[in-house]
Amino acid sequence: MTGLNNKRLLLGISGGIAAYKSAFLARLLVKAGAQVRVVMTQGAQAFVQPLTFQALTGNPVHTGLLDPEAEAGMGHIELARWADLIMIAPTTADLMARLATGQAGDLLTTLCLASKAPVHLAPAMNQAMWQHPATQRNTHLLEELGYTIIPPAEGEQACGDVGAGRLPEPEALFNWVESFFQTNQPKLTKKLGEGLRITITAGPTQEPLDPVRYLSNHSSGKMGYALAAAAAELGTEVQLISGPVNLTVPAGVNCTQVITAEQMLEACEKLRSTTDIFIACAAVADYRAEAVADQKLKKQANQDELVLKLVKNPDILATMAKATDNKQQPRPFCVGFAAETQQVEDYAQNKLINKNLDAIVANDVSDSSIGFGSDQNRVILFTRSGKQINRDPLPLNSKQALGQQLMLKLLAFYKEQQIL
Ligand code: C5P
Repeated sequence: MTGLNNKRLLLGISGGIAAYKSAFLARLLVKAGAQVRVVMTQGAQAFVQPLTFQALTGNPVHTGLLDPEAEAGMGHIELARWADLIMIAPTTADLMARLATGQAGDLLTTLCLASKAPVHLAPAMNQAMWQHPATQRNTHLLEELGYTIIPPAEGEQACGDVGAGRLPEPEALFNWVESFFQTNQPKLTKKLGEGLRITITAGPTQEPLDPVRYLSNHSSGKMGYALAAAAAELGTEVQLISGPVNLTVPAGVNCTQVITAEQMLEACEKLRSTTDIFIACAAVADYRAEAVADQKLKKQANQDELVLKLVKNPDILATMAKATDNKQQPRPFCVGFAAETQQVEDYAQNKLINKNLDAIVANDVSDSSIGFGSDQNRVILFTRSGKQINRDPLPLNSKQALGQQLMLKLLAFYKEQQIL
């Protein structure tokens, strides 16, 4: 039994070279116990034969709106009502435009209008088409209309271009579907976080050098914000301590904005005694300028080098995780993130021990398609129970879905530790 057992998935396929990946996706879904019905546009049939999907899913493939034979079987309205989730992979730029304007000229667009099921779109197209303002506008319009957009992957494309626009691999799409059903079992999950208080740090810190310059890093804050959103959805009370980022605070989350590591530490320490779980997702600057100049540092005509003296910033996570003798106020359950470019697993496990953590999420930031700035990530969760360390890899997925998976796993592990 898996979380997909008997779930009803309507898999839409539109015309793009990536349509072949959907055959692998259909196979994974069927293997996991889902009932899969496939709807193909005319364009999709130019790339893959409907017979392929019929053989993989064991169900006839739906291709036309005005086909009396198909309507006599499972008609389009019945099909629209049948689905628990509609996923369209690949979604072409043309289909996005048609959906964004509410058109219903073929079976797939009609189903999207007629169904009350969530519709998740996996756009796949040439990188220039993806970046085109018209496609970006349609993406926003679709999100406003309630569609979920699965971020396209980056990398080499079939046309030879390199950039964002690839259909994520079938395994990533499968994980997406799985986590959708996992996090959409409200009775089971909503209760999981009730009564718990979570503090999450996110984003970079900025360490000023003078009134106009600072030291910082490439952290976008997306992972921390995704965790905060997931924690709120699971019913926890969330305090987000955020460095400067360009993101909207998720619904139900209290946010304190900070700039420097020292300010972030101060905000976290204030919450220490009322925090059950502390998650340090921020990319805190390791060093700050020893002295911040009052006035803008001026370039000197006779000086080719400038030497800055930096001093170490406090380690917020290690401070929060420090053991305490006070039985009334034990230290929070502490979770770290280890963004590394090499020996990722070793460094992460060392930090887990050295910073006295309960869990750590290891993240390889040498791969530009994941990690900093990207919408996707692939991580390994290490949890510690006494001397035992457990390793749990979470495959490539959107940061949003990973945030949900991680939060479910962390809450479950936290509760297990409370009982032990
Ligand atoms: O030691 P390193 O920076 O690699 O550790 C990463 C973890 O420690 C992350 O969870 C990060 O948020 C946290 N950290 C912190 N304060 C610092 C440095 C890192 O909380 N000054």
